[in-house]
Amino acid sequence: MSQSTIESILQENRLFHPSPAFVEKARIKSLDEYKQLYEKAKADPQRFWADLAEQELHWFQKWDTVLDWQPPFAQWFVNGKINISYNCLDRHLTNGRRDKPALIWEGEPGDSRCLTYAQLHQEVCQFANGLKQLGIKKGDRVGIYMPMIPEAAIAMLACARIGAPHSVVFGGFSAEALRDRLIDAEAKLVITADGGWRKDAIVPLKDQVDKALADNAAPSVQNVLVVKRTAQNIHMEPGRDHWWHDLQAGVSADCPAEPMDSEDMLFILYTSGSTGKPKGVVHTTGGYNLYTHMTTQWIFDLRDEDVYWCTADVGWITGHSYIVYGPLSNGATTLMYEGAPRASNPGCFWDVIQKYRVSIFYTAPTAIRTFIKMGEQLPKARDLSSLRLLGTVGEPINPEAWMWYHRVIGGERCPIVDTWWQTETGGIMITALPGAIPTKPGSATLPFPGVLADVVDLDGNPVKPNEGGYLAITYPWPSMLRTVYGDPDRFRRTYWEHIPPKDGHYLYFAGDGARKDEDGYFWVMGRVDDVINVAGHRLGTMEVESALVSHPAVAEAAVVGKPDEVKGQEIVAFVTLEGTYSPSDELLKELKQHVVQEIGAIARPGEIRFADALPKTRSGKIMRRLLRSLAAGEEVSGDVSTLEDRSVLEKLRQRGG
Ligand code: WT7
Repeated sequence: MSQSTIESILQENRLFHPSPAFVEKARIKSLDEYKQLYEKAKADPQRFWADLAEQELHWFQKWDTVLDWQPPFAQWFVNGKINISYNCLDRHLTNGRRDKPALIWEGEPGDSRCLTYAQLHQEVCQFANGLKQLGIKKGDRVGIYMPMIPEAAIAMLACARIGAPHSVVFGGFSAEALRDRLIDAEAKLVITADGGWRKDAIVPLKDQVDKALADNAAPSVQNVLVVKRTAQNIHMEPGRDHWWHDLQAGVSADCPAEPMDSEDMLFILYTSGSTGKPKGVVHTTGGYNLYTHMTTQWIFDLRDEDVYWCTADVGWITGHSYIVYGPLSNGATTLMYEGAPRASNPGCFWDVIQKYRVSIFYTAPTAIRTFIKMGEQLPKARDLSSLRLLGTVGEPINPEAWMWYHRVIGGERCPIVDTWWQTETGGIMITALPGAIPTKPGSATLPFPGVLADVVDLDGNPVKPNEGGYLAITYPWPSMLRTVYGDPDRFRRTYWEHIPPKDGHYLYFAGDGARKDEDGYFWVMGRVDDVINVAGHRLGTMEVESALVSHPAVAEAAVVGKPDEVKGQEIVAFVTLEGTYSPSDELLKELKQHVVQEIGAIARPGEIRFADALPKTRSGKIMRRLLRSLAAGEEVSGDVSTLEDRSVLEKLRQRGG
C-alpha cells in the first residue's frame, strides 16, 4: 500500500450503518445479535459448527467426532459421509427450487445461457458419467483449465460428484505454469476448451494444453477433454483428446452422488508463497461445504429472490467458494460472466447488473479503482436500482475507492462487506455481516462467528489496540487448508512455525500485517512476506525471479512490489546481466515477454531495471527493503549498515526511472 493510502486509513473514522430497510429483512439484524452469536460460537466452536452442519447440510451418514485436532492437522466431522455436489444440486430438486435459475451465464460476444437447478443437475450427472467412462475414479486428480463458461462449474461439480479432486488452473496462466501444476497434482485428465474470450481476443487454451503436455512432460495425464467454445482450428491428438460434446452425447443422466468421507480431498488449488514454486492448497469436503455455505448465507444475507454475482474467475478460490459451491449449496441464483471491462466495452459490468437485475455484487478493489478512472457516467447511465448489497475482496480497499463504491454503485443504500480471507482459509474469515455490523471504509471489521482471530507479535502475544502486528487465527475452522499437497513439512513451516506454538497451542500465521482498533475492528495492511498482490492476484517474488533467471541473459534478479494506483501493486524487477549481454530496450521487452511465457500475463513486470549489482548484506542476502524504496521512488531510509557495498545503492539510485 502507498504511504498516502496508509495515512488515509489511519485517519479513517467514518462509520456507516445499514439502512432500517436493509436491517428489517436481514438475517442477522444488530451488533448485539452478532455479538451474542459470536460469543456463543466462541464458547463452544465445535458445538456451534456441529449444530449448523446438522441443520444446513445433507449428510449420508453423520460424523462421530466434530473436530480431531492434531496440530497442525485438523479433521472435521470425522467419519461423516457427504457429497458437496449433492448439497449443491440434488436437494434443491425437492425443496421447491427445481425450476429456479441456478446458473446464469453471460458470455462473449453476446452469448448467454440460463440453467435451472434441474438442468444443471442433469448436465453434471451426464458429464460425471462421461468422466467415469474415461476411467476417472474416486481419488483421481483432474486438471481444469477453462474459460468462464458454465462447463467450468459443471466440470467442478461432476468431479466432486464422483469424488475426483479437481485442480482448477486459471486460464490466464501459461503453458509452463499449467504443466508444473499438472505434474505436481499428478492429474490424470485435463478439461479445457478450444479457446476462451479475454477482452476482445481469443486465448488459445487448447494450444497451451498441448504445449504443457508436449514430450510427455506431464506423464500422469492420459486424456484431454475439450469444450468447443470459440471454434477455431485446434489439434486433437488421436486417442488422447476428446470433445466434451461427444463424450456427453447419449450418456445417461443417472449418476448418484458418491458418498464421500468428510475428509476426502475436494480440490487442490495452487497459490503463490514466499519461497519456491506455488503450493497446492488442499481442501476437503465436509468442513469446506459447511463453511462456504454458512459464510455465503450470512455475509451475503442471501434470500431466495436474489441474483448474486461474484466477478472472480473460477480459477481462483473466490470463484470456487463464492461463484460455485457457496451459492449453489444455498440454492441461490449465481451469475457467471465471461467478459471483462475494457476500452471497447467499459460499461459491461453495469449492463450485466441492469440486464439481470443483480441484487448482490461482489468484486475486487482493483476493479473498483479501474471503474473510478473510467468515470461515473458509465454506471450512472444504467439502472442499478436492483442492487442491495456490495462486497469486496482480494486486497485492502482504500477509503476513497470504498466511498466511490458506496456512493456511485451502491447509491448510498447498499451496505459494503469488505471480506478478508485467503486461498488457504477456504472461506471468508473477517467481514461485516451487513445487517449487523456498522462498517468503516477500509476495515474488514470483525471475525465471522466461529472464527477466532487476533493480531499478535511473533511470540504469539496479542498486541495493543492500534498497534501493528501479524494477523493470526487462533483456533481451527472447518474450511482451513488441510495440508500442502505432497508436502506436509512445507505446510507446517509456512503456516504454523513463524509464530512458534506454545504449550501445544498453535496459531495459524496468515502472512498479513494488521491492526485492531479500539472497537476491535481489523485493518489489514497487506502481506508481510515476499508475496505481492497485483490487481488482486497473488504472486511470489521468488516465482517471478526464477522466471527471469531462466532467461540466458539474466544473471541475477530481484523482484519487489511498487504501489500502483489501480492495481494496488505492480511488479518491479532489478536485473543483472550475464557477461556478454548488455541492456537494451529489446532485451527489456524480451524479458517481460519471457515472464509472461513462464507464468502468465498477470506476472508481466511493470518495470525492469538493469543494474550492475544488487544490494546485498554481507551474508549475501538481497536487501529488498532498499529495492522497494528505490522502486517506489522514495528516499532510502533506515539502517543500511549491513549493506556490503554502498556504491551499489548509489548507482541504482542514479539510474532511477
Ligand atoms: C491475500 C490472499 C481470498 C480471495 C482472494 C485472494 C489479501 C484478501 C483482503 C481484504 C485486505 C485482503 C491478503 C491475503 N486480501 N482479501 N478484504 N483486505 N487484504 O486470495 O490469492 O489467497 O490472497 O489477499 O493479503 O493474505 P489469495
